[in-house]
Amino acid sequence: MQVSATEAMSVAQARALLDWYIAMGVDCAIGETPLDRFALGNAAPASPYRSAAAASLIVPPSPRASTTPPSAPAIEGEPGIAEARRLAAAAMSLDELREAMNAFEGCALKAAATQLAFADGIAGSALMLVGEAPGREEDLQGKPFVGRSGQLLDRILASIGLDRSKVYIANVVPWRPPGNRTPTPQELAICRPFIERQIELAAPKCLVLLGGAANSALTGSSLGIVKQRGKWLSLHMGQLVLPTMPTFHPAYLLRNPLSKKLIWNDFMEVHQALRRI
Ligand code: URA
Repeated sequence: MQVSATEAMSVAQARALLDWYIAMGVDCAIGETPLDRFALGNAAPASPYRSAAAASLIVPPSPRASTTPPSAPAIEGEPGIAEARRLAAAAMSLDELREAMNAFEGCALKAAATQLAFADGIAGSALMLVGEAPGREEDLQGKPFVGRSGQLLDRILASIGLDRSKVYIANVVPWRPPGNRTPTPQELAICRPFIERQIELAAPKCLVLLGGAANSALTGSSLGIVKQRGKWLSLHMGQLVLPTMPTFHPAYLLRNPLSKKLIWNDFMEVHQALRRI
């Protein structure tokens, strides 16, 4: 359907257009007025974070079907990374870290997200879980894992006698990628200093990495989650050395219910480890 600027749109047309946008994966508006990027030509945007912004625009929105991020190496010269490192290192508490992240302008995802989804649960819990990035519900509520994946995560936690008052939950990327697409390697690299500092300040005794993006962002491994899950690793975060269990993302289980047994085995391992701690 094509509607010129001067043509009035009926309510039914507007609704049909919105339905089409949603079907195509568009679920957030990032500007009040349309921008003709062809007319802009090659003029360089003024932002120092140009490459991060450009990266987020060229990756087509797609449902987060795979939790494995693209494997291209992160760009070390990215200005957002240095700034994220500086801010993360300067934060002396989780409140300071949240404030610093709220003020940070080096990740283009922030502009499209409703808000920061910083954490849920109780900091200082023995178990910390780290997922990929907020989805729609998380973006609206400003908390990780409150949508469908979160409900499944609650059931998994309940199977080992835990709930959100006994764990701490965050994501490697705290702003929702448009259309729930997988975060790019560049976005993961920009956000990494923040999640590393968040883990350090929350000081859990044991870490669970939910899905391939969390696993590759925090361990640096290029092996997929199918190969990595179920095997304990030691992760160094500042002064901490944390026993870490990579496992499947709950969203993967929603699509592959036959893998439930594997995640159940992984959480039984975690349960036993927590009893020894
Ligand atoms: N998936 C994630 O990885 N994190 C969330 O917070 C929600 C869905």
